[in-house]
Amino acid sequence: MMLTPEESIKRDDREMYSGRAWRLVRFGSPVDSIELQQMIWPEPEPGQVLIRVRAAGAGYPDAMMAAGHFPLLGDPPFGLGEEAAGEVVAVPSGSRFSVGDQVTGITGFLEGWGGYAEYTYLREESTIRIPARMTTEEAGGFPIAFRTAYAGLIDRAPLEADQVLLVLGAAGSSGGAAVQLGKALGATVIAVAGSREKLDFCTRHGADHVVNHRSDDLPVRVKEITSDRGADVIFDPVGGDTASTALQAIARNGRVVLIGVASGKPVALDPMDMLLRNYSAVGVLATPGSAAAEAVVWERLADLADRGALSTPVGRVYEFWEVPEMIAQQTAPAAGKSVVRITSE
Ligand SMILES: NC(=O)c1ccc[n+]([C@@H]2O[C@H](COP(=O)([O-])OP(=O)(O)OC[C@H]3O[C@@H](n4cnc5c(N)ncnc54)[C@H](OP(=O)(O)O)[C@@H]3O)[C@@H](O)[C@H]2O)c1
Repeated sequence: MMLTPEESIKRDDREMYSGRAWRLVRFGSPVDSIELQQMIWPEPEPGQVLIRVRAAGAGYPDAMMAAGHFPLLGDPPFGLGEEAAGEVVAVPSGSRFSVGDQVTGITGFLEGWGGYAEYTYLREESTIRIPARMTTEEAGGFPIAFRTAYAGLIDRAPLEADQVLLVLGAAGSSGGAAVQLGKALGATVIAVAGSREKLDFCTRHGADHVVNHRSDDLPVRVKEITSDRGADVIFDPVGGDTASTALQAIARNGRVVLIGVASGKPVALDPMDMLLRNYSAVGVLATPGSAAAEAVVWERLADLADRGALSTPVGRVYEFWEVPEMIAQQTAPAAGKSVVRITSE
């Protein structure tokens, strides 16, 4: 049976590894509510891989968790950090991985084990060996964003080659991954972001067209780009007014892919508008289905990364001691994927 972090602190009879972890101790402002605590990580259970963390990826969900707005978690205390890369230090018998493997994957954050820590557990089914061309920081920021983009664009939309993909929050974590995956799938990608710097970032990472949602007329620009047809798929991690405005430029038979609410509220959907303009909305939660289906997903993502079609667009790299401040900054993130460097050994 998997131990909770609280139980593990008391189970020093099974002590294997000890170290520090950033943990949310109460909901509130990150700098006041995230503490560095001494922890013990016992032997991994079946389905887990224990790693010494080298880098961990960040994103808007960290800010939602600190504020108490993340729907899948209960009350603190719990560890923060949804994804991490590092060296395997322990595996249960029968694992696909071995001690010494360099891996990246999704942490056991839903059980309280986060990646902003010296050690963490990864979910074995959502873990891969680090592709050869990835740096440690790129590996730490790879799993969540690209798994989310895969769920949205391949499983749920689905996006077809030669279609037009409009990506909101395109300089952010999941949006940045959707830009790259959309290009890898053969789509024309229109990236939407809120500053010149972010638009340049999107162009550097493969977007065919860029639109500034603060200064451009978004529906007009999309219709110009698509000769009035509109976007076949809208990838929406932002919601709110930006997403509602973008919907004005959805194509007939289009799909808006509901990923998240970085603006603080979801897109307002109007069933009569969906009926009259012939489009649909699909919700996405990037969680594993069967182990076999999950293996297919990670194999394809690793293959695309191996071939250079996908690479984490690393933005700011933070040090371990900066985690509370880093999480506070996720409500107004700079361009690119924020990554925390945990150890360099
Ligand atoms: N469904 C799933 O399985 C899944 C998986 C991962 C994440 N998510 C969700 O997706 C959402 C985005 O996460 P992320 O990690 O991609 O976020 P992120 O990297 O922080 O990017 C969010 C982008 O949204 C835009 N934005 C607009 N208003 C904002 C505001 N008030 N605060 C922050 N950003 C704002 C920003 O772009 P501009 O400055 O260009 O406007 C920013 O680049 C979150 O709600 C998260 O929970 C869902």
